[in-house]
Amino acid sequence: MKVIPISAVHLPSQAPVQPLHLPAGATLSDQFGRGLRDLRISITDRCNFRCVYCMPREVFGDDYAFLPRTALLSFEEITRLARIFASRGVQKIRLTGGEPLLRKGVEKLVAMLAEIPGLELTLTTNGVLLPKLAGPLRRAGLHRLTVSLDSLDDPVFRRMNDANVPVADVLRGIDVADAAGFAPIKINMVVQRGMNDDGIVAMARQFRGTGHIVRFIEFMDVGTSNGWNLQEVVPSQEVVDRISAEFPLVSLEPGYTGEVAERWAYADGHGEIGVISSVTQAFCGTCTRLRLSTEGQLFTCLFAEQGHDLRSVLRGGGSDEELDARIAGVWAARTDRYSALRTAQTSELRRKIEMSYIGG
Ligand code: GTP
Ligand code: 5AD
Ligand code: SF4
Ligand code: SF4
Repeated sequence: MKVIPISAVHLPSQAPVQPLHLPAGATLSDQFGRGLRDLRISITDRCNFRCVYCMPREVFGDDYAFLPRTALLSFEEITRLARIFASRGVQKIRLTGGEPLLRKGVEKLVAMLAEIPGLELTLTTNGVLLPKLAGPLRRAGLHRLTVSLDSLDDPVFRRMNDANVPVADVLRGIDVADAAGFAPIKINMVVQRGMNDDGIVAMARQFRGTGHIVRFIEFMDVGTSNGWNLQEVVPSQEVVDRISAEFPLVSLEPGYTGEVAERWAYADGHGEIGVISSVTQAFCGTCTRLRLSTEGQLFTCLFAEQGHDLRSVLRGGGSDEELDARIAGVWAARTDRYSALRTAQTSELRRKIEMSYIGG
């Protein structure tokens, strides 16, 4: 495994973004004319899994320096920012991590965010804490859930989560969430060749006809610690071909403009799957996503090298107008399209932020 030390990498200097004062209600557009629609908020950098493609144990072992509590944005700070984002056109907020259900009182945060009109609230989890939290989250006003599950084969799953968590724990979480009213649930499987790709069809079979939607995700070069290489990426086309050989699939129209997953339906009407092809078919052209890290840094791309600090404005007594102008300036200056430009070389050279910090 090759971890690139920060000092060994040339860091592009980033000119501080100028605040942009816009009239109330004006929506934002970046340098490529992309609007701001989705905000992904990481609420903890901790996780009870050590997925090999995300938080490999060799790097994120027991003595890894996670953020101290005071560094994290409080629920009040998050909600204050969310209101400003909503006023600038954000329609969907996804809570992520790390594992977001490890943040104490997450259901209270959901209840606070649910008071903001017009927002769709969703959350991505590894599912283990759902038996305890699905009901409270639903009652607090969470609209949708995505559960990560990389294999149905217990030894393979344990090897991938590297925390000895059995498949049954995640399946139980999905069942409880279903009973709590979250169906249809999206199930994310990151496919890594040689690791879990022989379980693609089994995963499709397991959720066919249940109403839940499995999405097969190409293994990405996020962060610098997961030892990514192109040979381990299974192109989505191959995933579709393999499933189609057993359960014929037909292509579906996107559910909304800029949808990350490409949708496919079972020809016999037993539901749908999705494939997410950020390596073989980048979707930067329609990327309307902004990410807020656990400690209040704004990132304009999953592969960004630097964030824009909002916490210092929040804690320095900044007004809503100042926060708004800072956010507007960051989005207006945005030029990111990493996946569209990616090559094996760019992947090696960048000092990228880990996904567990920036939020999946
Ligand atoms: P919904 O359509 O609201 O259900 O969400 P989504 O399709 O955005 O899916 P989700 O948030 O679950 O994202 C699924 C996976 O797609 C992530 O875990 C990433 O692997 C990948 N992904 C999501 N957003 C981006 C992005 O902006 N850039 C890249 N390169 N990959 C992304
Ligand atoms: N490649 C693709 N997706 C990833 N995730 C984390 N790391 C990677 C990676 N290297 C995504 C998965 C998981 C979510 C929490 O983050 O979709 O379900
Ligand atoms: Fe945790 Fe999700 Fe990363 Fe796995 S992919 S280590 S569950 S944050
Ligand atoms: Fe958006 Fe960056 Fe992902 Fe492209 S690589 S889709 S710009 S987050």
